[in-house]
Amino acid sequence: MANDLPLNDATTLPALGFGLYKVEPEQAADVVVAGVEAGYRLVDGAEFYHNEAEVGEGLRRVDRSSLLVTSKFWGEEEMSRDAALRAFDASERNLGTAIDIYMIHWPRPARDRYVEVWRALIELRDAGRVRTIGVSNFAEHHLTRIIDETGVVPAINQVESHPWLPQHDLRAFHAAHGIVTQAWSPLGRGRLLADPAIGTIAGRLGVTPAQVIIRWHLELGGGLLPKSTNPGRLRSNLDVDGFRLSVDDMAALAALETGERTGTHPDERN
Ligand code: A2P
Repeated sequence: MANDLPLNDATTLPALGFGLYKVEPEQAADVVVAGVEAGYRLVDGAEFYHNEAEVGEGLRRVDRSSLLVTSKFWGEEEMSRDAALRAFDASERNLGTAIDIYMIHWPRPARDRYVEVWRALIELRDAGRVRTIGVSNFAEHHLTRIIDETGVVPAINQVESHPWLPQHDLRAFHAAHGIVTQAWSPLGRGRLLADPAIGTIAGRLGVTPAQVIIRWHLELGGGLLPKSTNPGRLRSNLDVDGFRLSVDDMAALAALETGERTGTHPDERN
């Protein structure tokens, strides 16, 4: 299992976590149990995934003390301080356990309220209600604004990233400000697994295409949330310490950059 990443709030983050987006409520408790049994210590949830009660059910079937639980404020109905505080309470109630990491799910820039919502997350952290605060799907100009206006740098920015969309400029900005990059859709929603260049590297190293891509994320220094509902794949996606990618392998993966997204651009969701 990969090393933990240091965060700017003096805590650490497991480099690999498992995501619960699009996990059906009926499956969510079992996926949590399978993930924890596979060795994951970071459970990435959100209000929007509509499965927090079932995730909480899974969390009650495992040793919660060794785990970090993430949730995120959706904000579609209302982007405001009060809505964020209410959503935090509701997510904790649904999960039936304390949230360790809380994020703003999308900046929704046309509403122009993400600085106010960021202040609400700072309040939660200062009150000791949550260990770590971060954001998700923030572009550099959104990050610059919350940092300039509040003086508080998010510990994490969770964004779409995979070899088609390596996010080099954003990663450099994160590095300069002490923000950890955490990739969602790190396998390009699974679509990158069929890429021939990745298949060639995997074949030569005797590993799976998913393991090659996961290693690529780790070499870039970020965290990632590969999604799988299959216990064997959950396990093999964590088994990435036995090999390294060469400079040539990294160059072959860099050549895959197209800028293609599998999801929404941060400025497009309001
Ligand atoms: P499954 O849940 O059946 O394992 P991403 O994390 O980029 O969103 O990609 C998730 C997709 O990749 C899911 O469809 C998942 O399917 C698939 N996937 C995850 N890990 C592996 C793996 N090791 N081998 C094949 N497919 C995988």
